Amino acid sequence: MAADELGQPDRAGWEPVDLAQVARDVLDARVSDGIRVDATLEPAVVHGDPRLLASLVANLVDNALRHNSGPHVPLAEISRLFQPFQRRPAGQVDGHGLGLAIVRTIATAHRATLSATARTEGGLTVAVAFGPCHRPMT
Ligand SMILES: Nc1ncnc2c1ncn2[C@@H]1O[C@H](COP(=O)(O)OP(=O)(O)OP(=O)(O)O)[C@@H](O)[C@H]1O
Ligand SMILES: [Mg+2]
Repeated sequence: MAADELGQPDRAGWEPVDLAQVARDVLDARVSDGIRVDATLEPAVVHGDPRLLASLVANLVDNALRHNSGPHVPLAEISRLFQPFQRRPAGQVDGHGLGLAIVRTIATAHRATLSATARTEGGLTVAVAFGPCHRPMT
């Protein structure tokens, strides 16, 4: 996605995108890696960039696969993890700490609301909510 000097994304190529299909494609790719993921998906069409939305979903799914069985995430650390190059120190050996910053940027570009809560048993629950009458930014 191109962006001008003010950071506004170039919306050429935005189109109706079914988030359920995006999620299905991302999950199917992981299943072929020998991983089973249970998902309940219903059609949810938004206006956006299909490649960016696939990146958003892929980053969240990959994080769930990589980090969700990890230790409890303290509340005070959650917002920091959405900044670039931020990782939790304990036991963290791979990754660049960029995925959640990418997720946040893509959600903002699509005017989606992002929220994250820590699960008591470890891992995060991340919600990305698109408006019911979603329209592209102008
Ligand atoms: N689902 C999750 N459960 C628990 N911790 C998470 C989860 N997702 C992210 N984190 C924590 O937040 C940090 C930042 O995540 P982020 O996706 O930005 O980077 P990363 O996964 O380490 O590397 P990459 O750049 O490859 O995505 C992770 O290092 C991890 O400590
Ligand atoms: Mg990641």
